[in-house]
Amino acid sequence: MSYCSSQDVRVVHLDPPLPDEFRQIQDFERRTYPGEQLKFSNKGSRTVALTFRKGFRWYAALLGKTVQGYSLFDFRDDDAYLDDLGVEEGARRTGLAERLVSIGIEDAKKMGKRRVWAKYLVSNEGARRLYVDKLGFTAFGDVEDDGLGAAQKVEKVFP
Ligand SMILES: CC(C)(COP(=O)(O)OP(=O)(O)OC[C@H]1O[C@@H](n2cnc3c(N)ncnc32)[C@H](O)[C@@H]1OP(=O)(O)O)[C@@H](O)C(=O)NCCC(=O)NCCS
Repeated sequence: MSYCSSQDVRVVHLDPPLPDEFRQIQDFERRTYPGEQLKFSNKGSRTVALTFRKGFRWYAALLGKTVQGYSLFDFRDDDAYLDDLGVEEGARRTGLAERLVSIGIEDAKKMGKRRVWAKYLVSNEGARRLYVDKLGFTAFGDVEDDGLGAAQKVEKVFP
């Protein structure tokens, strides 16, 4: 495959995601979290609910029609929650996660949200660096087991 820079990748709001885009996101989750129960199962109830229920937004990093990464924000409350984030291995460290989170942060500000918060596993140093060092999130609350392991909550409060 020829080299593509992150500039060739569009980061967009999927409104709503196409079936093929969902298939690619599900495939990513299957590879990233083997053995885990799929969050967005093919049976579709949660997928469909999340997609069409008011207050959630999917964003994707698209190279042509190929999903290189995605983020899912929950905008239902006064606080926006970053529910899910992933970037394909071959596309990592090109700034896509930063763009996928930043687009949601900008939308959260436009919607008048107070803050964006997220959770990461403390074993996931890449995620910590992304949120804290790169995007300026700060830790809050205690480290708690969220079912997958010890997780830290982080937030970015808007001025
Ligand atoms: C974590 C993840 C989303 C990062 O995606 P990414 O597109 O590679 O991240 P970016 O290129 O936007 O990285 C931005 C910054 O975050 C930090 N960072 C990201 N991944 C890192 C890693 N593996 N190690 C160290 N720092 C990392 C760096 O500071 C990086 O900036 P730099 O490349 O200029 O040093 C990706 O590795 C992934 O999908 N992992 C599996 C799923 C997952 O862990 N999701 C997050 C759940 S909270």
